[in-house]
Amino acid sequence: MSKRARLGGANSETCLTQKPEEPVALSQLEDCLSKIGYELVMDYTILGRTGLKVSVAGLGCGGPSRLGLRQKKSEKEAVALVRLAIDLGVNFFDTAEWYGTEPIVGAAIAETPRDRLVISTKKTLPPMDHPDPGGEVSKSVEGSLKRLRTDYIDIYHAHGVYPGEYPYVKERLLPAFERMRQQGKIRSVGITERFPADPTHQILLQALQDDCWDVIMTGFNLLNPCARKTLFRLTQKQRVGVLNMYAVRRGLSQPVLLKAICADLVKKGVAAAESLNPDDPLDFVVRDGGATTVSEAAYRFCRHEPGVHVVLTGTGNPDHLRANVEAIMKPALPEPVLRRLADIFGNVDWISGN
Ligand SMILES: NC(=O)c1ccc[n+]([C@@H]2O[C@H](COP(=O)([O-])OP(=O)(O)OC[C@H]3O[C@@H](n4cnc5c(N)ncnc54)[C@H](OP(=O)(O)O)[C@@H]3O)[C@@H](O)[C@H]2O)c1
Repeated sequence: MSKRARLGGANSETCLTQKPEEPVALSQLEDCLSKIGYELVMDYTILGRTGLKVSVAGLGCGGPSRLGLRQKKSEKEAVALVRLAIDLGVNFFDTAEWYGTEPIVGAAIAETPRDRLVISTKKTLPPMDHPDPGGEVSKSVEGSLKRLRTDYIDIYHAHGVYPGEYPYVKERLLPAFERMRQQGKIRSVGITERFPADPTHQILLQALQDDCWDVIMTGFNLLNPCARKTLFRLTQKQRVGVLNMYAVRRGLSQPVLLKAICADLVKKGVAAAESLNPDDPLDFVVRDGGATTVSEAAYRFCRHEPGVHVVLTGTGNPDHLRANVEAIMKPALPEPVLRRLADIFGNVDWISGN
């Protein structure tokens, strides 16, 4: 059986001793540890008012990868990926009826004691002129329970709500969510935004005016950190659980797209030309941030943001999953790097990185 060590992370301690005059890079330390049979341990936190103990890294089963199904990986590979996440200490899984990955999650978690896991899934909004949206919610909950092979859902969300749809969600869907909660079929209620269409979080700001949502899912990343100025102040005050999507997405995992996004910021005069290398705009984050890749730095940026409870990572690639969980467990980016990022992107509130 492997031994366990704790490294980095906002609330964690390093349990190896080292002489101060002999600094060891974290990556070297990790290599040494893995050679002698140690593995990284996950950090857990409490998801706001839900009281649920959740891993700070959560597996996103949607996004551009859908556990690899979008890249034509097999269901068997997708099930193995979810099981790998469990082995890495991840206990938070986010899926949705829309993604088609509920059966994969259901198959993967069947052997794990249910109370060790936190399952989040979502209801696609029925059309606003639907004669019985509440009935649709009941049907969907039953379907999700069956596909997930469980008898309760920890967090049930209204999925991808556009600005303008909120009154409908609150008046026609939320009462049905509450009925499902009373029946013990769901435990907490959540709402998720459409980050590309709503990059300033109007729907979630509206939802937080009502004290009825336990959890929100929001886009937040180093290209558009505007949630910190508005949303996270409210969620912390109200003890609402925060799930972070779009930490990396396409913009921070595809160099060509990142170059285009940054070139546009320079063209618009938002960023000074000399602040971003046109060929490798976030080279300073990797170089001065002690990161191996831009995606590592991007996950670390989100993980250490006050107010964020779970950083979701969506992938179909086991190596990416291992790297991303490790990234989320690493320390915050150094202050000078964070200041430089804030100078460049601190006022950006229109990019999603999709
Ligand atoms: N409105 C909503 O409710 C909503 C909307 C979007 C997302 N979500 C949820 O949030 C989760 C996270 O979604 P996201 O798209 O924002 O995830 P993300 O983790 O920010 O980005 C996922 C993308 O990054 C790539 N990637 C991940 N790790 C990488 C690495 N180490 N190196 C290079 N590329 C890497 C993935 O491709 P590979 O497969 O190749 O790794 C995938 O294309 C979703 O799965 C879903 O559960 C919810």
